[in-house]
Amino acid sequence: MTNPSRAAIRTAIVGIGNCASSVVQGVSYCRALGADAVGVSFPDLGGYTPADIDIVAGFDVDARKVGLPMGHAVFAGPNCTQVFHDDLSDQQAMVHRGPDLDGVAAHMQSAGARGFQTSDAPALTRDHVIGVLRAARAQVVLIFLPVGSQQAVEFYADCALAAGCALVNGIPVFLASDPAWGARFADAGLPVLGDDFKAQFGATIVHRTLVDLAKMRGVSVDRTYQLNVGGNTDFLNMSDPARLTRKRESKTEAVQSAMSAPLGAEDIRIGPSDYVPWLNDRKVAYIRLEGRLFGGARTNIELRLDVEDSPNAAAEALAAIRLARIALDRGVAGPVNAASAFLFKHPPQQMTDADGYDALLDFAGGGTGKDA
Ligand SMILES: NC(=O)c1ccc[n+]([C@@H]2O[C@H](COP(=O)([O-])OP(=O)(O)OC[C@H]3O[C@@H](n4cnc5c(N)ncnc54)[C@H](O)[C@@H]3O)[C@@H](O)[C@H]2O)c1
Repeated sequence: MTNPSRAAIRTAIVGIGNCASSVVQGVSYCRALGADAVGVSFPDLGGYTPADIDIVAGFDVDARKVGLPMGHAVFAGPNCTQVFHDDLSDQQAMVHRGPDLDGVAAHMQSAGARGFQTSDAPALTRDHVIGVLRAARAQVVLIFLPVGSQQAVEFYADCALAAGCALVNGIPVFLASDPAWGARFADAGLPVLGDDFKAQFGATIVHRTLVDLAKMRGVSVDRTYQLNVGGNTDFLNMSDPARLTRKRESKTEAVQSAMSAPLGAEDIRIGPSDYVPWLNDRKVAYIRLEGRLFGGARTNIELRLDVEDSPNAAAEALAAIRLARIALDRGVAGPVNAASAFLFKHPPQQMTDADGYDALLDFAGGGTGKDA
C-alpha cells in the first residue's frame, strides 16, 4: 500500500549530529532505491514510506554546520558515521543557529575537532525558532540533541507546541514519559512520541530479547551487565558521568522491565562504558547474563554486538516520524504509547517487544493499539 497523495511529512531536526546524518542520508537513500533499499524498518506505515519524509529545517550550534544546507551539514565534523548515500542534492533545508542552553558541555568545547565548536552567529530566540518552524510548515520536530540536554529539549518541545508540531524525542530526557509534558501535548491537541530511541538491532533490544527468552524458559536471571564502548561524539559527550544519569536510567529500566522481577541495584550494570576514538561511529556492546537453570544448575551467556551506531537509531527514527504524522492525521494527542513502546527505551508505558510490535502495527493500520 502506498500513500495515494504522497503527502510529504514536513520534519525539522534539532541536533545535526551523526544520527541526523543517518536520517537525512536515509531519506535520500530510500527515495533513490525505493523497494531495493536495504534494512528498512517498517517499509510501509499507513501508506507512508521513509521517502515521504521532507526535512524542512535543522537547528544546531556548531560553526561547521550552522548556515549550511542539510545535505552539506550532515557530512561536517565532528560527524563520523558511515556515508551510505552521498548524493544529498535533494536536502537543501537550512541549518539554523539555535541557543546553546545545556546542549554544550564544557568538556565538549575543549575537545578540539572531535568536540563541539560553537558558532559566533547570534542564536535564535524562542520566537525566532517558532517562526522558522511555522515558515517551514514543519509538522514534526525530531530531537537528536546530546545526552544531558534537559533545558534544550524542553526549549524545543515548547517551541514545537507553540508552532503546532508533533514531537519525536529520540534522546534520554523524559518528555513523552513525563505526565506533565504529556498533558501539555494533549491539551494542545498534538502527539508526542518518545523517549530515547531503542535502536533497530541495538544492545537494548538484544538484551531484552535474551531476558525474555530466559523468562519464557523458566530460567532465573541472577545478574547481568551491558557494557558499551564507542568512538562517536555521543560517546565523547557521555564520558562526563554528570551528563549520563538519564541515559543509564533509560537503558537500565528498558532491561529491568523485561525481567519477571527487577534485579537488585548491585546485580545489574548497564550504560555507556568508555570512549574509544578510533571506533568512530562503531559501537561495541558486551552483554552478560548469569542465572540458574532447572534444579539450580548454573549458566551464563556472553554476547558481543558490533554495530554502526547512528544508522541503527535512524532506522527507528524514520518509523517514528511517520507514526507521528499518522497520529496528526488522526487527531491523536498527547503521549502515543502504541507508537512508542516498540521504538523507544523509555516510553510512557513499557510493553514486551512482541506486544509493542503488535501495538505499533495496529496503530499504523488504523487501530488505537490501546489494548495491546
Ligand atoms: N545512536 C543511537 O543508537 C542512539 C539511540 C538512542 C538515542 N540516541 C541519542 O540521540 C542523540 C543524538 O546522537 P548523535 O550520535 O547524533 O549525537 P551527536 O553528538 O553526533 O549530535 C548532537 C548534535 O547536537 C548539536 N547540539 C549541541 N547542542 C545543541 C543545541 N543546544 N541546540 C542544537 N543542537 C545542538 C551538536 O552540535 C551535534 O551536531 C544522543 O542524545 C544519543 O544518545 C542515539
